[in-house]
Amino acid sequence: MTSAYNVQAMRRILLLVMTVIGIVAVLLLVRTFLLGRQSAPRDQEPSAESVHIIFCAGGAPSEIELWQSLLDDFARENPGISVELRQLPADSDQQHAYYTTLLGSGQPDVDVMRLDVIWVPEFVDAGWLAPLDASALETNDFLSFASRVDSYRGVWFAVPWNVDAGVLYYRKDLLHEAGIDRVPETWRELTDAVRRIRRLDNAPREGFVWQGRQYEGLACVYLEQVMSRGGSLDPRDEFARGAHLEALTYLRALIERKVSPANTASAMDEERAREMFQNGDAVFMRNWPYAWSLLNAEYSPVAGKVGIAALPRGKGGASTGALGGWHLAIPVTSAHKEAAQGLIVFLASAKVQEELAARLNWLPTRLSVWNSPQLAQMAPQVMALKEVAPTATPRPAIPSYPALSLAVQEIVSGVLVGRLSPDEACDRLEAKLKEFR
Ligand code: GLC
Repeated sequence: MTSAYNVQAMRRILLLVMTVIGIVAVLLLVRTFLLGRQSAPRDQEPSAESVHIIFCAGGAPSEIELWQSLLDDFARENPGISVELRQLPADSDQQHAYYTTLLGSGQPDVDVMRLDVIWVPEFVDAGWLAPLDASALETNDFLSFASRVDSYRGVWFAVPWNVDAGVLYYRKDLLHEAGIDRVPETWRELTDAVRRIRRLDNAPREGFVWQGRQYEGLACVYLEQVMSRGGSLDPRDEFARGAHLEALTYLRALIERKVSPANTASAMDEERAREMFQNGDAVFMRNWPYAWSLLNAEYSPVAGKVGIAALPRGKGGASTGALGGWHLAIPVTSAHKEAAQGLIVFLASAKVQEELAARLNWLPTRLSVWNSPQLAQMAPQVMALKEVAPTATPRPAIPSYPALSLAVQEIVSGVLVGRLSPDEACDRLEAKLKEFR
């Protein structure tokens, strides 16, 4: 009794200490940036001729590596400008927290930011973004969704760097061995396929991996589940209870029936799912196009064994992936807007987009790139997704989307961990969505 009590007390103390250390670390990080800015004002740089700009972004290891080499190319082509890559965590929510703290302080020291598509309306609304030179950026070459997201009353505040759409990755070899001759087109077929593949001697530990942790990735997964069953997450639409009920019941059953890992709700984000799938430990994975090049890298145990397809659908709906993607913008406070704009022109150019497609499997945002014969040659896999991108569903483009998303994530997560029944969750979702009308 006493020793159990001691262990529990020790755990609590440890948890408390870890939490305090975490909070102090974040505060120190923000303070360092703010102090750095105060003690070394940007206008006192060593030479009036040379400009130093900071590009802030978070992503997968392969992305960071390529961005660094693109920044080096840019600096070589522009001898008066040096660029520093400030690396943020890959998780979209952690980046959002970082930017809102920094921009809210009024003293951000960054010049170019890579923003998740869902934050653009919020940041424009807050007055945090500087207007861009639309003609230098050839904004009329961007896919049509860009003007809705990135421009406000004819002024462009951001440009899309890549388009993301949720897709299904599957193990071609395992489907073949189990005698399954087509990729699952419905959610039911997907779970049936897992059941059949589990009978194989070499069946992986897990069936289907997806983003179940409570963060933006879960909001995307949930949007796909609901839309593919004929519902919607847009507060302005009527609440389709049947679609929500099915979506919640299905996701919960994936975990309960061990089709998906037990730690789905506590740990699974894009990179955890990708690592597990890449290690050969799962049959199916829901993820974004970026995973493709990593899965097929020389060192990957599943290289050459993976297929990519549109996500399955449920009853009464059509297949759709969440529309994601990342945009480039300049904070109003940047002291080097001209150099920053030059960097965005370079990064969002057709030439760089072709390279991003070929090396990272990123879906381009320029019509000219989609229509270029070179793309088919350099990135055939991206061309194969040409049909997936236009059918992707945007998350509600409202300035309060981050708050709406947090509420949805919390309720869905409650079902995944068994704290809420799908019925209770539907009541809460309906009431919550109404608040955002
Ligand atoms: C991807 C998408 C982004 C989305 C995020 C969720 O990075 O591009 O739009 O919000 O995943 O985790």
